[in-house]
This record gives sequence, C-alpha cells and structure tokens, in this order.
Amino acid sequence: MNKELLETTAQAMVAKGKGILAMDESTGTCVKRFVKYGIECTFETRRVYRSLLLTTPNLADYIAGAILYDETIRQQVTGSNVPMPAYMAANGIIPGIKVDMGAKPLAGHPGQVVTEGLDGLRERLAEYRELGARFAKWRAVINIGEGLPTQAGIEANAHALARYAALVQEAGLVPIVEPEVLMDGNHTIERCYEVTAVTLQSVFAALFQQGVYLEGIVLKPSMVISGKECPQRAAPEQVAAETVRCLRDHVPAAVPGIAFLSGGQSSAEATWHLSLMNQLGGVPWALSFSYGRALQQEALETWHGSDANIPAAQAAFRQRASLVAAAATGQYTPEMENS
Ligand code: 13P
Repeated sequence: MNKELLETTAQAMVAKGKGILAMDESTGTCVKRFVKYGIECTFETRRVYRSLLLTTPNLADYIAGAILYDETIRQQVTGSNVPMPAYMAANGIIPGIKVDMGAKPLAGHPGQVVTEGLDGLRERLAEYRELGARFAKWRAVINIGEGLPTQAGIEANAHALARYAALVQEAGLVPIVEPEVLMDGNHTIERCYEVTAVTLQSVFAALFQQGVYLEGIVLKPSMVISGKECPQRAAPEQVAAETVRCLRDHVPAAVPGIAFLSGGQSSAEATWHLSLMNQLGGVPWALSFSYGRALQQEALETWHGSDANIPAAQAAFRQRASLVAAAATGQYTPEMENS
C-alpha cells in the first residue's frame, strides 16, 4: 500500500473550500432524473449532459474531484476525442469511479439491502486505474423502519464496505466510504442519530479489522436529519449540531475528510446545513460535500435536454457549486441564494 499517495489524493479530494461532484448515476437512475424533464436518456444525451457539467468554465475553483459511472469513464467529451478522465485531469479535477453494483435485497432480512460488487473488483480496479481513476466510491444503504435496521443488516454492509476499501487502497486509489442512512420515512432526528451512530461504529470497526488505512479514505455519510415524512422536522441548526455531535463521537480523527451526500435534501437545504456545520467548527476533519442531486438539480432543469440551454445550465451549475464551496468554509448564508 502506497500510504503517501493515498494521503495526498485524499487530502486533495477535500481541499479547503472545495468538494466532490457525484455524477455517477447508474443508467436506471439517470433515466428517472431525465424523465422528469421529458429528456430522452440515451448513450448520447448522457454524454452531452455529463460533458456540460465537466466543461463548465472554472469548475475546478469549487470542485476537487468528480465521481463517474462506468459508461462515462469510457466516453469522450462531446465534440472532441478527449476521454472524460483525461479532460478532467487536464482541468484540475480528480477523476473518480463508482465501483459498487448496487444495493440488493439482503436474504432473510425483509426490508434491508446489501451492496454487491466485490467479486472481480480487484481486476475492475486495475482497469479503472488505467482509465485514469484516482479514487472510488461504494454506497451502502441503511433503511430506517419499524424494527429496522437490524444489526445483521448493518454488519453485512459494513463488512462489504471494508472489503471494498481494502481492495481500493491496494490498487492505489482512495476509497470513498459511503454508508447512507436514508431519509425515507417518518422517523425523528433522534432515531436518525441512533441509527447513524451504530452504523458508523460498525463501519469503523470493520475498516479497522480489514486493515484499512484511515488517513487514506474519505467518509461520505448522510446528515443526522428528520425523515422526509416526519411531522416535526428538526431545524437546520439542530441538524448541523446533531450531525457534528454524532460524527465527533464515532469518526476517528485520522480520517482526513468527511464529504456529505445530499440524500434528497433541496439544494438550498444541503448548502445551508453544510455551512452551519462549518460555522460550528472544532472538528479534526475537513467537512465538505460530495453532492449529486443538490449540485445538479438546477443545471439539469435549466438544460432540459436542449443544446441552446447549455451556457445557461453551466451558469446555474457554477452558481450552485460556488455556493456549496462557500458552505464548505462556513461562508454561505441563505441570503446568497438570491444574489
Ligand atoms: P445525492 O447527493 O443525490 O444523495 O447523491 C450522492 C451520491 O453519490 C449517492 O451515492
């Protein structure tokens, strides 16, 4: 394991005032996002859209790295023969790759899922490294429900995450370790805290057991937040305070950075929560972002599948990226939404 390389990459991924763009939607998810705006989802429209994002002028001022999907890492930027990862590297954005194969029902545990993709991963990582990837992502999904999650569900996911992380580090890439506690449901913020706490505890125990080098990972957690259908949703200040408290209790200081997912929060909410956390301060890790929807929503809506809208979509995307980057140093306030 090249520890120095892993540390350098991990620190660059969460460099001060920057974060990660998650644009690694599987084709199925991409269809769902495009359909909302009546955009046909094809190999070519996905290429146009992802090129639009990556060629946004001065994106590297705000975005340190971007996570690609298997199809995208093999595509060339629209109107050129430059592969996406080569374009990114030349423009100061570290290429990353989603390597999990999705969450599948966990046998014998109704309502719970486990992420698959370990078989053959060593070989796939060697190819991705060749294609230019410098970090990887694996998303584990934890559902909150009546009597859920169970310890069995949490541990199956933690074990897979740790085995993935060890393989990724062996290949010289930085693993993004993503245990997502879903916002779906009517649970309270207190219940989300409990589940996030046991999940993180289990994940770090598994990482330790598998010998994962903590200085060479980036943690991508969900925030401690009320369920979407909770009748009494916690205020932004409480989300920030409880998230920081939970992380401080469960994430070792050796981890260089925490890059949150947005998980279905609106762009403005996800930006405000991150800024409030950075205003609290007093934590040993960088508090940054690895948003998908919260970064892309406005760009996708503005683009609407039309070439004529590309400059406006890029402007909307750059504006959101600049706001989230400001939040990563606690400089964002909601008033900036209208500026
Ligand atoms: P969201 O920010 O839309 O949750 O996506 C982040 C991500 O990469 C989920 O795996």
